[in-house]
Amino acid sequence: MNALEYIKKVPKAELHLHIEGSFEPELMFEIAQRNKIEIPYSSIGELKKAYQFGNLQDFLDIYYAGANVLIHEQDFYDLTMAYFKHCAEENIVHTEIMFDPQTHTKRGVAFSTVINGIQRAREDAERQYGISSLLIMSYLRHLSEEDAFETLQQSLPFRHLIKSVGLDSSEKGNPPSKFRKVFEASVKEGYIPVAHAGEEGPAEYICEALDLLKVARIDHGNNCLTDPKLVERLVEEKMALTVCPLSNTALRNVDDIKNHPLKKMLDLGLQVTVNSDDPAYFGGYLTQNYISCIEALDLSLEQVKQLVRNSFQYSFLPEEMKEKFL
Ligand code: ADE
Ligand code: ZN
Repeated sequence: MNALEYIKKVPKAELHLHIEGSFEPELMFEIAQRNKIEIPYSSIGELKKAYQFGNLQDFLDIYYAGANVLIHEQDFYDLTMAYFKHCAEENIVHTEIMFDPQTHTKRGVAFSTVINGIQRAREDAERQYGISSLLIMSYLRHLSEEDAFETLQQSLPFRHLIKSVGLDSSEKGNPPSKFRKVFEASVKEGYIPVAHAGEEGPAEYICEALDLLKVARIDHGNNCLTDPKLVERLVEEKMALTVCPLSNTALRNVDDIKNHPLKKMLDLGLQVTVNSDDPAYFGGYLTQNYISCIEALDLSLEQVKQLVRNSFQYSFLPEEMKEKFL
């Protein structure tokens, strides 16, 4: 079996996926219509044409605008269920889903509306498809730490449904150090900390995420490559990096998939995983991310097997569940 045949069939896990980033234009138009919300694009085609990004902020502006049409619990259910359908088609058997409560609570949508819709979809996906999932509540780093504290408070009645806290949105100028206290408080509540770091921001932000936020995984982390000492540390500590290849090219952090550092990262001994980030915006779900890398970087079957093993190894599944896939 070659690497392409293997990746299409094998059971896989996804560790870095923003549910709001799985919002396909077709569903966005459908939900906008039923909620009687205007979107500033006349057709699905016109909306898709807007998906040309020069950097992370260009993308975030469109991503937050798209999320504006999500109002009711059913909207969050439909959004999440649509992603699980993709998982079922691609044999993604476990997924760790990030959601951005502040994107919705800032617009007057209750925290309970968001999480109840997502949770109902999680339960249906487990029942219908046998897919296991967990939730990563992500704080928006362009907002204040005080705002994140408010979100932490709002999450407490639903603590049993949330495994982890993350940090996302505009990285440059919003270092992990800005959120040290709220991460400390989140860990005290039992949440496992993760953070986006080194996507657009410097290697220094990865160090801060490790030292100040005490993260269990780094989301992206590509810019560690500018600091050999940090690479050495990440290798030594077996710190997982949730790399998102098609996101990196769509947001111009990598100019061409042929120049993506994934293979180099594997060769250096970094514990990398492959993920889709925001698949509705970046041109591919998880399997397509693997396929693009296999083709552009000529990954061997052994390397692809390693990436798939890593996706389970560095998941937050209980050890006995991981073992079924390792
Ligand atoms: N929110 C959704 N996708 C993101 C990304 N790639 N980086 C930072 N924040 C995000
Ligand atoms: Zn992300």
